[in-house]
Amino acid sequence: MTEFNTIDDLDVNGKTVLVRADLNVPMQDGKVSDTTRIDRLAPTLTELAKKGAKVVVLSHFGRPKNGPDAKNSLRNVLDALSAAVGQTVAFGEDCVGDKAKAAIDGVQPGAIVLLENTRFHAEEEKNDPAFAKRIAELGDLYVNDAFSAAHRAHASTEGVAQHLPAAAGRLMQAELEALTKALEKPERPVAAVVGGAKISTKLDLLGNLVKKVDMLALGGGMANTFLYAQGVDVGASLCEKDMADQARAIMETAKAANCELLLPKDFIVAKEFKAGAAHRAVPADGIGADEMALDVGPATVEFLGLKLQGAKTVVWNGPLGAFEIQPFDAGTNAVAGLVAERTSEGGLLSVAGGGDTVSALAHAGVEEKFTYISAAGGAFLEWLEGKDLPGVAALKKK
Ligand code: 3PG
Ligand code: MG
Repeated sequence: MTEFNTIDDLDVNGKTVLVRADLNVPMQDGKVSDTTRIDRLAPTLTELAKKGAKVVVLSHFGRPKNGPDAKNSLRNVLDALSAAVGQTVAFGEDCVGDKAKAAIDGVQPGAIVLLENTRFHAEEEKNDPAFAKRIAELGDLYVNDAFSAAHRAHASTEGVAQHLPAAAGRLMQAELEALTKALEKPERPVAAVVGGAKISTKLDLLGNLVKKVDMLALGGGMANTFLYAQGVDVGASLCEKDMADQARAIMETAKAANCELLLPKDFIVAKEFKAGAAHRAVPADGIGADEMALDVGPATVEFLGLKLQGAKTVVWNGPLGAFEIQPFDAGTNAVAGLVAERTSEGGLLSVAGGGDTVSALAHAGVEEKFTYISAAGGAFLEWLEGKDLPGVAALKKK
């Protein structure tokens, strides 16, 4: 990777390094309920600390709009962060000014300090230049390890990079390398698997993907909209009828770009949206008026299996059915299993991310078997849309 500086390009010994992390982690009963993001960030922090830097961690948490509040305090993640890095992390009551400086002055090189939620200041989300400068004053170097917040042009993700030598942290580096291999410089053929409920939220994503990939497999509620746009009766299934024109436009773009659209051949349908509901498999055009397609069926799994056999790269976003309720997780599980198996055999590079995807793939038990599963939600989606992410753009070598 030559486009970005990494930690390898920085001399951090004896320096104060500001690390933008994404500690926006899920909490339950006051405790971190999923430490994935923290676990993936930890190697960057420990590497910098071992190399003799004072490591100052900056992050947002939640979406506070009215200044500090206890619920959104990053103090709530301090114990989980200390556990992940294997040392006691110090805490600064503010992310700028005297309180931040005092916390940083209070520790030795090799220590890690977490500063309070950057979003406790309204200037953060405005990317206020004076505020970015106040953050930059706290350190000598800037490392951004928050790919999952890189779609935000905020003071701590974008503005501060204008004031200090900047580099990608190890997690950011891993994300960028995986995403580049998956879509910018992929081994072909490339297949995208896109599921999820609605096409209205993924129009840009689909429009970009059909121009870049060789095959696009669609599942979830959005596939119903495509079938409806082709004149198929989807019964009581989730379907955005007012999006039929957009679906047809995407089909046209796909055709012009030589991208093969793979729509479901069959469905598992039910009359109720609940676990264990009575269900049956029907061809895609055989959905009854009072039935809902809740998953792709076995013929689709077989069809996708054959198609994906030929792929060298797979990019995955979104579940193929209502994976939260059984047995409507079967299609997602089966296709994810096929991708995982081929990845393990060495024939496939598989990258997934965005929103529900991580939980769907974790549910399918393939989390460890894909080549890379992104820790990002919205940022992964914007990257699939082909957008320049401000936090990434700010790290480009000047
Ligand atoms: C996320 O959790 O997706 C990131 O931390 C970004 O959070 P935001 O959507 O509140 O900017
Ligand atoms: Mg988000």
